[in-house]
Amino acid sequence: IRTAAVIPAAGRGVRLGPGTPKALRTLGGTPMLVHAVRAMAASRAVSLIVVVAPPDGATEVDRLLHEYPLADRTDLVVVPGGRTRQESVRLGLAALPQDIDVVLVHDAARPLVPVDTVDAVIAAVRAGAPAVVPALPLADTVKQIDPRPQGTPEPVVGTPERALLRAVQTPQGFDPATLLKAHDTVVEGEGATDDAGLVERLGAPVVVVPGHEEAFKVTRPLDLVLAEAVLARRRA
Ligand code: C5P
Repeated sequence: IRTAAVIPAAGRGVRLGPGTPKALRTLGGTPMLVHAVRAMAASRAVSLIVVVAPPDGATEVDRLLHEYPLADRTDLVVVPGGRTRQESVRLGLAALPQDIDVVLVHDAARPLVPVDTVDAVIAAVRAGAPAVVPALPLADTVKQIDPRPQGTPEPVVGTPERALLRAVQTPQGFDPATLLKAHDTVVEGEGATDDAGLVERLGAPVVVVPGHEEAFKVTRPLDLVLAEAVLARRRA
C-alpha cells in the first residue's frame, strides 16, 4: 500500500502580515514548509510527498527543500500551485502516480501536527473510509450571523449546538479516486474551504478521527508565538 501526501503551500499568508509567503517563514530557524514536509515524512507509511509551491516560486522551493534531505524511503516532488487552495490541491493531485492507495492533503500552515495524528488518519482510510478528517471539539461558542458591510454590527441568526461541532484540521485522508472525482466535479468558488467539503458535496461519507492541539493552523501573528513555544518545548 502506497500513501502520498500533497502539501498545498502556495498561499501568500496575508493574515500573517506582510513579508515572505507563509510557508517559507521560519519557525525555530527552519521554514514552516520544511516542518510540514517532515511531519508527513515522519509517518513510515508516506512514501511520496508532493509540495505545491507558489506559482512563480517552484524552482526556489525545490532548491530550498533540497537543503533539508529526507530519509531514503520518501520521494519529494515540487509543482507550481494556483490562485486558490482548491486549484493548488488539484495541481498537486495531478502529479500523483497511478499506484497510490491513500492520499493525504496537508496544509503547509500546520507545521507541527504529530505523527500519531497522521497515522490515525491513514489507518482510518485503510480501514475503508473514503474520506477522513482529524478534528477537535470547540472551546468557543459559535454564532451564525447575517453578514453586513464592515463597521455595521452583524445580527446573530443562530447558535449551533457546540457539542455537535468540530474544528477540522489536516492532514485529511482520502481514497484517491474519491478525492480526484470530488475535485473534477465540484466547481471552484462554491465555498468549500477544505477537501473533505468537496467529497461531502459528492454525497460520499466523511468521518472524523481525533485531531491534536498541536495541529493548529498558523494563520495570524499570535499563532507564530504559539508555534515557537511548542517547538521550544519539544526541543527542551
Ligand atoms: O489560506 P489558508 O490558511 O486556508 O491556506 C491553507 C493552505 O493552503 C496553506 O498551506 C496555503 O499555503 C495553501 N494555499 C495554496 N494555494 C493558494 C492558497 C492557499 O496552496 N492559492
